[in-house]
Amino acid sequence: DGQHLVNYEGFWFPEMFLPSIRSSRNNFVAKNTDIILATVPKSGTTWLKALTFSVANRGIYAVDQSPLLKSNPHKLVPFIQEYIGDEHDKLLPMENVSDPRILSSHVPFVMLPYSVAKSECKIIYLCRNPLDQFISLHHFFASNKIEKEAVPLGFEESFDMFCQGIIGFGPFWEHMIGYWNAHLENPKKVLFLKYEDLKEDIVLNVKKIAEFMGCPFSEEEVGKGVVEEISKLCSFGNLKNLEVNKNGYVMDGVLKNNTFFRKGEVGDWANYLSSEMAERMKKLMEIKFEGSGLTFKI
Ligand code: A3P
Repeated sequence: DGQHLVNYEGFWFPEMFLPSIRSSRNNFVAKNTDIILATVPKSGTTWLKALTFSVANRGIYAVDQSPLLKSNPHKLVPFIQEYIGDEHDKLLPMENVSDPRILSSHVPFVMLPYSVAKSECKIIYLCRNPLDQFISLHHFFASNKIEKEAVPLGFEESFDMFCQGIIGFGPFWEHMIGYWNAHLENPKKVLFLKYEDLKEDIVLNVKKIAEFMGCPFSEEEVGKGVVEEISKLCSFGNLKNLEVNKNGYVMDGVLKNNTFFRKGEVGDWANYLSSEMAERMKKLMEIKFEGSGLTFKI
């Protein structure tokens, strides 16, 4: 859908990202204090970046002074591979990133930098029901021209590819199951979150995130309503309406800030997918997630 994909070790990657993904896999040196955000694209990465940034920096900035009010979350929490020089296979200096560093990635668990498993750094994974994820992705491609030469696929065709697993960082089920199993194996290393749960109870999940990050909210903070304040600051309505997110671009001017804030709802797929398409996807999820214990509210 507007991107050239290549298969690498069983997963599909946008060709333009592969050099930096491979380079960061070998060269990125994780620190024990790092927090790595891992997501399927269009699962709420921007939201998770805002939340974790706010949780980690709550002692430094009052909510009404938050850098989030002036910067798109992707500027404050970069992708790991943004620091890796493609051609030189070298780490670029991480400027303006103080400890604990929060960095993000879309790569599958097995493709994370080798140093991540060896260090004590923590991983927060976020995914979303694939029906909404697909619809979100479709709109995102329609409103950003990602590759000049790539010919966009039609809706039905891109849905078919998605169901075959041919999608950036897909197959989505392999991506999710990889992190799900890593979470089951070591829940202190990998926190597993779902977009739908965050929508249902953000306060509970912000507390969960803070605990996992090793900086739980004190009773005093809870009493003062800090958790609610952070939740509100990072809410869809608030971020979408900030001047900084209405204009401008991130990632070398390729992606429009406002395209990261579309609708922010659960179940929007029902407005776009035919009942046959929805059935196909539900059946696929049943088969792929069978026995794993992984389920989604859709
Ligand atoms: P929709 O296209 O369904 O609206 P990502 O950040 O991984 O690119 O995901 C983008 C999706 O998350 C979009 O979904 C976007 O609207 C939604 N989103 C962005 N910020 C959000 C927030 N603060 N709260 C809830 N959803 C948010």
